[in-house]
Amino acid sequence: MRVAVLSAEAVPYSKTGGLGDVAGALPKALRAVGEDSFLITPCYLQTKGEYLWHTAVDDLWVNWRGKPYRAQAFYSEANGSPTFLIDAPSFFHRDSIYGYTEDYERFAFFNHAALELIKRLGAPPDIVHLNDWHCGFAAVEIAHLRYWDSYWRNTRTVFSIHNMAYQGGFDIGELWKFGFSSDFERNAFAFNGYASAMKAGLAVADMLSTVSRRYGFEIQQPENGYGLDWLVRQRSNRLIGIVNGVDFDVWNPATDTALNSHFNAQNINGKQACKKELLEQFSLPVDLEPPIFANITRLTGQKGIDLMMAVAGDILATGSYIISLGSGEQRYEDFWQRLRDYAPRQVGIFRGYNEDLAHKIEAGADLFMMPSKFEPCGLNQMYSLRYGTVPVVRAVGGLDDTVQNFDAVNGKGNGFKFSEYRADKFLEKIYEALFAYYDKDVWRRLQWNGMTIDNSWENAARKYVQLYRMTKS
Ligand code: ADP
Ligand code: GLC
Repeated sequence: MRVAVLSAEAVPYSKTGGLGDVAGALPKALRAVGEDSFLITPCYLQTKGEYLWHTAVDDLWVNWRGKPYRAQAFYSEANGSPTFLIDAPSFFHRDSIYGYTEDYERFAFFNHAALELIKRLGAPPDIVHLNDWHCGFAAVEIAHLRYWDSYWRNTRTVFSIHNMAYQGGFDIGELWKFGFSSDFERNAFAFNGYASAMKAGLAVADMLSTVSRRYGFEIQQPENGYGLDWLVRQRSNRLIGIVNGVDFDVWNPATDTALNSHFNAQNINGKQACKKELLEQFSLPVDLEPPIFANITRLTGQKGIDLMMAVAGDILATGSYIISLGSGEQRYEDFWQRLRDYAPRQVGIFRGYNEDLAHKIEAGADLFMMPSKFEPCGLNQMYSLRYGTVPVVRAVGGLDDTVQNFDAVNGKGNGFKFSEYRADKFLEKIYEALFAYYDKDVWRRLQWNGMTIDNSWENAARKYVQLYRMTKS
């Protein structure tokens, strides 16, 4: 099958979170299982020049708001598979990737340009795989074009939900400017008096997916549906949950280029050297006995930072270290800063985005905290499992699908998991984890259980291929 994957971000070209990891890896995995896939993503100011191998289309004319706009497309295989990067400076050469009031317009343009590009590339794709609200526009455009343009007649769409909390809402009066003027198109976007790109994708794509089985159920409930749970329920026979994979070319403790020492499930000795280096890097006293609790995240309400704030003092009282990497809401950044000031010999923080450090933390830490309020999939718990860093998570979304609570009696399970969003429940699991940590045999077993799980992208890619086939039924 010929598959075009569209995404607003993709590693290594751009990344603000897990969507970037997924979109960078999936097209490569699809090729590995025999599909003819390619990726289309914007070329941002932040995209490194070394990734732009050559110009694929020099004059990509896009009819935009009634006028021709000349964009370009670069070609690359820096993620290990064919990628086209749409270069349109007035939309994408900005200080940050997202966060502008007219983001909906920037991505409406991206979708429109991507479909122009696909036509220029030749044979029509069987599948256009769209990710999150940024790509809802193309779902509607293709559903419409299918009836008017024979090129698109046999193309089907898959829309993947990575996070329902972000929906790309805008004034419905803007729609016609982007060429959406029929009743069908307006109805697709219409949501509570405005237009929603997420709703449009959900409403018209041929098949829907989300990034874990459990999240597939959660978004059918008002609590996690953000006003669209009714639509997800209505289309639930078209929805499946496929848990993301881990790209072992990027996240593998045996080969990770960010590390000076390496290790694997059979021989984990190198992890101690990584721990030592990590403590040194954060200017913490090097005592390898107490564990390091780590967290790497966007500092938003989604990630359960309140629970981490509530238990941080108790963790420090056990003599453990805490290392946090991330940036986001001021109140959370302030909290980590205060904690560091309070216990400078136990706490290490880095405010900002730093990939090299993310790898070093995964390798050097002992436990990873992820008490999310909601978590569609979550990648860091999977990276943690691979790196022998035991996750302590809340049983929601992909965290529930990928982490099994450890049972000290039969030695099964790969982490610690609690259900209710309550600090005392989280703390209970942290104490349980500490008991396990101080029993070396038990801990080794736990690490082994996590490190040997097969959460490869090839597995997930095979499920996507089945999903693509289902679009024809
Ligand atoms: P989300 O997409 O909701 O942010 P995920 O767990 O799916 O959550 O993915 C987050 C990704 O972003 C991971 O690859 C993680 O390592 C990375 N990440 C998050 N914050 C930072 C940061 N401050 N520096 C480096 N990488 C980060
Ligand atoms: C979103 C979700 C995260 C998921 C990622 C990739 O950013 O918040 O849970 O892992 O998308 O699917």
